[in-house]
Amino acid sequence: MTANTPLGARAASPAEEPQLRADNIDEVLKAMTLEEKAKLLVGGANNFFGTGAVVGGEADLVAGAAGTSSAIPRLGIPATVLTDGPAGVRIDPTRKGTDKTYYATAFPIGSCLASTWNTELVSRVGEAIGNETKEYRCDVILGPGMNLHRNPLCGRNFEYYSEDPFVTGKIAAAYIRGVQSQGAGVSAKHFAVNSQETDRTSVDERLSQRAARELYLRGFEIAVRESDPWTIMASYNQVNGQYSMGNHDLLTKILRDDWGYRGIVMTDWIGIRKGLETISEVHAGNDLLEPGQPAQVEEIIRGVKEGKLQMADVDRNVRRMLEYIVKTPSFHKYPASNAPDFKAHAAITRQSANEGIVLLKNNGTLPWNSQIKTVALFGQNSYDFLSGGTGSGCVHPPYVVDLLQGLKNAGIESSATLTDIYQKYIPFARAKFQAERHPAKWFQTEAMGQQKYPEISFSQIAIKKEVNDADAAIITIGRQAGEGLDRDIDTEFCLLPEERQMIIDVTTAFHAAGKPVIVVINSGSVIETVSWRDYPDAIICAWQPGMEGGNSIADLLTGRVNPSGKLTMTWPIAAADHPSTKDYPGQLDFYTYREMKNWGSGEIAGYTYTNHDEDIYVGYRYFDTFDREVAYPFGFGLSYTTFQFSKPVVKAKGKDAVEVSITVKNTGSVSGKEVAQVYVQAPKGRLEKPAQELKAFAKTRELQPGESQTLTMTIPVRMLASFDEAGSQWLTEAGTYTFRIGASSRDIAATAQLKLPEYTEKVSNALAPQAKLNLLKQ
Ligand code: BGC
Repeated sequence: MTANTPLGARAASPAEEPQLRADNIDEVLKAMTLEEKAKLLVGGANNFFGTGAVVGGEADLVAGAAGTSSAIPRLGIPATVLTDGPAGVRIDPTRKGTDKTYYATAFPIGSCLASTWNTELVSRVGEAIGNETKEYRCDVILGPGMNLHRNPLCGRNFEYYSEDPFVTGKIAAAYIRGVQSQGAGVSAKHFAVNSQETDRTSVDERLSQRAARELYLRGFEIAVRESDPWTIMASYNQVNGQYSMGNHDLLTKILRDDWGYRGIVMTDWIGIRKGLETISEVHAGNDLLEPGQPAQVEEIIRGVKEGKLQMADVDRNVRRMLEYIVKTPSFHKYPASNAPDFKAHAAITRQSANEGIVLLKNNGTLPWNSQIKTVALFGQNSYDFLSGGTGSGCVHPPYVVDLLQGLKNAGIESSATLTDIYQKYIPFARAKFQAERHPAKWFQTEAMGQQKYPEISFSQIAIKKEVNDADAAIITIGRQAGEGLDRDIDTEFCLLPEERQMIIDVTTAFHAAGKPVIVVINSGSVIETVSWRDYPDAIICAWQPGMEGGNSIADLLTGRVNPSGKLTMTWPIAAADHPSTKDYPGQLDFYTYREMKNWGSGEIAGYTYTNHDEDIYVGYRYFDTFDREVAYPFGFGLSYTTFQFSKPVVKAKGKDAVEVSITVKNTGSVSGKEVAQVYVQAPKGRLEKPAQELKAFAKTRELQPGESQTLTMTIPVRMLASFDEAGSQWLTEAGTYTFRIGASSRDIAATAQLKLPEYTEKVSNALAPQAKLNLLKQ
């Protein structure tokens, strides 16, 4: 078989064959041979992992795109192109034989976007990403990343939104609506419970049906119901003993029967996977096997011929593929320009980072006035700025505005001595690191970004000189993470000894001269703060804020923009405060782990598992229910102004919903935006409940001093339900519900109560745990 021979094509001239249209899917399906159908269900990878695999041979349609679906030219079925995601279009920035470049806008990472709590703004980011997807001749962006921040050590948390499924679902739905409004598609990923990177392709995530439904699936459910994603990506891992990719309960019973999902499911990028038959993936409701290997096509054909796979299952999936294809830019022959509007998109990324960056501490030093003219910039990431994460979530932007440049653009000079030292040091450290790294540690490359060069230790004398020359200091603490690796507590969650020392030395010297010090956290994920946060005057969590990041930070430092970002995950005092840390595998050295598992030999000796003993008590659901102290609570974020919440009005809206209204007033002296967060405390009933759960939120417009805005939020009664495993149903128990409204989960400004009748909704009995769990109880 060669690259472009349609398997089993009939000897008819193309003129006689039906050519795919939106209104002749039945006819095209009927005209397809079994071989063509099988081919359409398998991605068009060209050379996947060196297998020499050629199915459709479409992989090079857009250099650097992650994959394609296969073309069947006989029937007018084009290949479609799938690109990573989620923080922008990830394709090769350069191509052989041309000087033209193919950079894409790097938008803020997921955690930063979610921290805007601004769904309208996230939709605008989605629109820009959808536009770039289409302009670069791609059809689907492989995002949003929707896994929960179960634990702060997950290496891919930066791509995901929150520890809370409601925030996740709402932000994802906004992103999806934005992308799809442009006529491009998304792939909401990774479905489901893909909460760790260690052994991610085989780990068994063991959890209760309740935790699955209420937490890990709920965000996807909201996104499916509210934004109709074209595609969903099934995760690598197992859920309760079954691979997601072949999990009929997950992909059909829950996704389609319970939620009414209409799009396609594709696999994550594994090809043939040990321990799972291709035909069981097709049967489970997996419509597109990525990136695609010829043997998978053969397996499907053989499966049907031997009666192990029903033709009806194949036809069902093929029909869904055709329904997907007719929506795509490729099908519509969209004339891609390969020239997105970077200027317009830069403005959107800058604004979204403005609203996603979180002010964690401010003793009044910020915003800076015009007296701050020169700043001493410490920390390598002030110069080697992290605009995004690594792995498939890394985007190649045309430029990155680092902190140095951002300050300069705002008219603030940086210490020339420090700039010179760091700009010489970083290339040297990078080269040294690469030369000295263990050859087997392939993951410690620039691309994987897991390297951290030692921070420069400055003598007291050198720091004193900076104090004399500068009006203030900034210390940037950077952390990189990405696909394939989880984070280490000592070196990644915590500060390194030299970083801590730098904070102490710089603050001591600058404070002695009455000059302020700001710490900027340039990390995709949560870090430890309690042991050092008393030293600086202000702390800004800038996340990885995209390619305009330096400008966005400078906007906040100078008060051009008032911070309005709020954390979408709890910042614990110690990593071990999260109950899931006790069995979080990220603490094992990855190299040892891989050796142990014989990874890479193709003979996986078994698989690991992760018990979700904390059950539904993830994030603030745990910390608030068990009354544990935290560093920064869920929903927290400071502003340069103050807000007052009125007494809320909470009333029934028909019989299926509750309406919450609250007036937010800017009581300070500068304009700003505030987020009203509605936490609901359920009455004591049959089911154990967390102390409170976020059920609605809304952000004000920019309010001038003294100005008010009334925010009205609707909560469907079904969203107040807990999952009742005994009855396989959603259950909102009758009783008095307390609506607690405030500016974080620990800053409740006003409450109101409402009596509600019982509500139930039967769903499938799916994903029952195979192993015994040791669930945490209140
Ligand atoms: C990642 C996905 C990504 C895919 C294609 C996988 O390894 O888990 O998130 O979309 O690769 O690059």
